[in-house]
Amino acid sequence: MLDKVTVEVPATTANLGSGFDSLGMALDIYNEVSVERSNNFSIEIAGEGAGILPQNKDNVIYRSIATIYDKVGIPVPELSIRCKNTIPLRRGLGSSAAAIVGAVVAANSLCGKPLSPDELLQIAALTEGHADNVVPALFGGCQVIVEVKGQFIHAGVSVPPELVAVLFVPELEVSTEQSRTVLPIQVSLKDAVYNVGRAALLVNSFATGQLHYLRIASQDRLHQQARQVLFPSMNAIMEAALEAGAWAAFLSGSGSTIVALASRWSEYIGEEMYSTAQRVGVTGKIWITQPSLRGAIHEKNPKS
Ligand code: HSE
Repeated sequence: MLDKVTVEVPATTANLGSGFDSLGMALDIYNEVSVERSNNFSIEIAGEGAGILPQNKDNVIYRSIATIYDKVGIPVPELSIRCKNTIPLRRGLGSSAAAIVGAVVAANSLCGKPLSPDELLQIAALTEGHADNVVPALFGGCQVIVEVKGQFIHAGVSVPPELVAVLFVPELEVSTEQSRTVLPIQVSLKDAVYNVGRAALLVNSFATGQLHYLRIASQDRLHQQARQVLFPSMNAIMEAALEAGAWAAFLSGSGSTIVALASRWSEYIGEEMYSTAQRVGVTGKIWITQPSLRGAIHEKNPKS
């Protein structure tokens, strides 16, 4: 059995506008977690979350590792855990899913891989509470996620290779929990139909490369409008991205990041999003990245 394993886990954007709790896509921004059997327990965190995230056994990475050891019936050894974090926290880019997914994949490798990727998914999704970041973090690419009696099934959607994701990452942090409290408990049949058709169109648009459909396909009536109380500048920044030539613009997961999908003019789109945000008094940074096909199960050093 391995003594040390290093796993890279991508950032993820959930919902893609219309696919609330049902679509997620991996982005080319990675956290790295190394877990090594050791004589003493330790957690080191560099980058995002350093000095903020707990460095004791309450850390979600340690707790997720312990869940895997419990599941396979092996006592948890003392571990030295090192995290190099690039994914910003509490910005709707799947940092917590990345932590959990990195931990379960690493722990499974240390135990000799007794659990299948699908079993890891069920455990990670249960810990996270939603699966729309967990699935693309684990498997990469764009994924459709459906819950069936508490179990998650997923199907990959091909991602047009020319697609670029322009992110506006505000300084404003928000937790998914907080961002879900503003959502309506019930929606109208009309709004449900509005989203069902658009989410289906989005999958078709990705699969066939008909990117011109994305503007309509990413529109949403289930969550973004309600979330405007938390992100009043959201529409202005999304409009700026679309005006500048993006195919689609939406709130990333539960926010606060705004994602614009483009296949050209990405720098100009970023500049327009940034200057619009500045004009309405929102500080943040632009990040130009790409969808990523590589999830955490594609190990960095499979033989190490
Ligand atoms: N789909 C979730 C939400 C975010 O919009 O609240 C990530 O799980």
